[in-house]
Amino acid sequence: MSHAELDNQARAILTGNDQGGYTIPTKGLYPYQWNWDSVFVALGFATFDQDRAWREIEMLFEGQWRDGMVPHILFRKDDPSYFPGPSVWGTDGGPIPSSGHSQPPVAASVVHDLLAGDTTGGGEERAERLLPKLMNWHRWYLSYRDPDGLGVIAVIHPWESGRDNLPDWDEALRAVEVRDIGPYERKDTSHVDPAMRPHKEDYDRYLSIVAACRNVGWDPAKVAASCPFFVADPGVTFIFLRANRDLLALAERLGRNEEADEIRGWIAKMEEGAARLWNEDLMAHVAVNERTCKQTDGISSASFLALYAGLTDTRTLSALQGHFDRIAAKVRYLMPSYDPGHPSYEPLRYWRGPVWAMINYMIAKGFAEAGDKARAERLRADTAKLIETGGFAEYFSPESGAGAGGGAFSWTSAIWLSWASSTRAEQAA
Ligand code: GLC
Repeated sequence: MSHAELDNQARAILTGNDQGGYTIPTKGLYPYQWNWDSVFVALGFATFDQDRAWREIEMLFEGQWRDGMVPHILFRKDDPSYFPGPSVWGTDGGPIPSSGHSQPPVAASVVHDLLAGDTTGGGEERAERLLPKLMNWHRWYLSYRDPDGLGVIAVIHPWESGRDNLPDWDEALRAVEVRDIGPYERKDTSHVDPAMRPHKEDYDRYLSIVAACRNVGWDPAKVAASCPFFVADPGVTFIFLRANRDLLALAERLGRNEEADEIRGWIAKMEEGAARLWNEDLMAHVAVNERTCKQTDGISSASFLALYAGLTDTRTLSALQGHFDRIAAKVRYLMPSYDPGHPSYEPLRYWRGPVWAMINYMIAKGFAEAGDKARAERLRADTAKLIETGGFAEYFSPESGAGAGGGAFSWTSAIWLSWASSTRAEQAA
């Protein structure tokens, strides 16, 4: 199929998953509005309907909590095909029923990009309305996911990282006591092959963390102090650092000096804090269990996001180039979500090996900005090949290229349209 035909298909997937202003990731498996999915989706809409792209982000922020948090799922209407739904979460923090934690804060970066490419004439006003909301969300991250001011962002649940089933969470998750969960019926394994989904022991613990936070009324300070899971995540940390740089550019463009000064302070603190995640043996940034101060021992696709975060010093860049080439010699398609040289690597179980298109997009952006156009282009070409062969799947095997998980997936379509398609690359050239 030609890229122009795939462009049409991608647009049809986005409009087919559109629920009237917000987009679901895919039908069946994920029937609600997910936080970072929506934000990437906005990049896709922006290639053919900029007004609709802004709307996606605005609708996400309609669910912002009073304390500033933007939830990972907005349950705009009850759908029994998904578990755990609103009654399990038991939250009351915002205007729309939602889950109780967040997801990677890519929104400021995408708002920055939407404004940069805006031809609607209304972009500046819309960005101005979003700026205080973005500021509040970022303040929430610093207060409640970095309460000790270490300059790294922790997640209170594997799902908050957006990389739900990553081997980096295994040890911290095993330490979570299984309690207060009662009998429950999963729905994910009725939509996709259980061999690709987390095990029951993991699921019991996912729900036990939710129960522990529900027991303290989702009070953010209590959650930070008492949550049985609190792990500093290079993914969220680097996405947040990048988002702060883009938020700063936005504040400067809008002439908001006070906000700009505040953000400069955040950036300085996080640039320093990143050292806490650096694993000298592996020569890469990894996760750190904040409850035990123990670093994890594997390289994940988020280790490469250091460049996207602007940490492009020679040591980091050359270490990541080395890892890139080593991994490229082991698998056919980059970038696997976990190091194929690590014993926990599984090419098709989600977040333990498969490739995600939107992660490739961010990694490539980092390499390109660090001056390494060749590796950035390799990632774009691999992403295009995967979609050509595997379709608009949720994720792909780095070995066979097979598409897996859900089909007709929104963020895969969005990343195709905004970055991977050769028709896009030609426009950008
Ligand atoms: C899975 C992914 C998460 C994503 C969601 C919807 O839970 O791990 O990152 O947001 O699916 O696509």
